Amino acid sequence: MQRVKQSVDLELPVNKDSAEYAARILKDVNEIVDLNTGRSGRLIRVLQQSQERVGYLPPEVLTAISQVMKVPISEVNGVVSFYNFFTTVPRGKYVLQVCLGTACYVRGGQRILDVMKREYRLEPGDTTPDGILSLDTVRCLGACALAPVVTLNGQVYRRVKPTGVKELVSRCK
Ligand code: FES
Repeated sequence: MQRVKQSVDLELPVNKDSAEYAARILKDVNEIVDLNTGRSGRLIRVLQQSQERVGYLPPEVLTAISQVMKVPISEVNGVVSFYNFFTTVPRGKYVLQVCLGTACYVRGGQRILDVMKREYRLEPGDTTPDGILSLDTVRCLGACALAPVVTLNGQVYRRVKPTGVKELVSRCK
């Protein structure tokens, strides 16, 4: 099963207030911006690659991107909030996405979310306290005929029943 890149891969200094931490972020962002020089959709690419490297997009990274790219922070924040694949909070080791497009909603997507709330106390956007599982919703994954659809770390599961989602969650360790 494919796993989401974890923030522990960061190799960033632990102390976020340290000069070392800020310097490392600036260095990484500079590298990523350089790699994308002259490419279209540069800001989105830089944000994506920064998120891949860090695991999420904390304020320090967004500020560094704004400074290095000379783009207003309001524009950076606007892009991050527009696309739901960007996250400003750390995600779990596993990310379960429940499709809430029309077909999936009608065929049981909401019931899957109800199970997640009832059994695991997870609402969309939440992560379990142990950092194992995050829950998200998406709008149509392009497999409507096989609704309801969920993904677990990018792996697509079709015609998922509430019992099936519990089975999936039990694999997340
Ligand atoms: S609505 Fe869920 S895959 Fe299309």
